[in-house]
Amino acid sequence: MLKIVNHPVLKRDLTILRDKNTPHGIFRKLLADASAILAYEALSHVTLAEYPVETPLETTTGYRFAQEIIIVPILRAGLGMVDGFVRFVPEARIGHVGVYRDEVTHHPVEYYLNLPDHLPQADVFIVDPMLATGGSAIWAIHMLKEKGAKKVHLVSLVAAPEGVQAVEAAHPDVEIIVATLDRVLNENKYILPGLGDAGDRIFGT
Ligand code: PRP
Ligand code: URA
Repeated sequence: MLKIVNHPVLKRDLTILRDKNTPHGIFRKLLADASAILAYEALSHVTLAEYPVETPLETTTGYRFAQEIIIVPILRAGLGMVDGFVRFVPEARIGHVGVYRDEVTHHPVEYYLNLPDHLPQADVFIVDPMLATGGSAIWAIHMLKEKGAKKVHLVSLVAAPEGVQAVEAAHPDVEIIVATLDRVLNENKYILPGLGDAGDRIFGT
């Protein structure tokens, strides 16, 4: 299921992120801000558990997240989205999935995996600003499910229709949350209009 988040602040920030003249320091800051808006939406269906809380005057019903929240950035670019999530969930555990796209085949190449033990009981949010062919995300979701994850969400800033279709076909149970569904992939599998190479733009490489 695809959810496109519509918010004026997100649209304004995405415009600046798309702009090729935006320097990496501003890019990094705006990606963190945009990720917070996406996180706010992505967390909207998290299950709550009730517990009694004492105000200075009386006891009332309080709420906490019923399940652990785990955030999994796809390295490198996904790191730029973690801060936006931990603003709302400072106690979240963070796993890391290392995968890059081969420049010729465009297929994902795995190089790192480090995940918390608590996947089966958790709400898991994979974060990666770009969903292009979907190869990286499909591999990440597969690894998480293999380690027992049951509730997986994929949060991206910019998605291509090809990537959304590929993820939906491979993992129909995974909710996909994005800021925009762009037009198409070019011959090098970059998203058009997109914002270029997200990792390079975040880290100034
Ligand atoms: C980018 C991006 C995604 C992937 C998307 O990473 O951050 O992980 O490409 O493409 P896909 O949907 O076709 O798999 P990249 O391979 O450039 O690595 P980096 O984050 O280390 O720069
Ligand atoms: N990865 C990126 O960083 N950008 C794209 O447009 C596609 C894949």
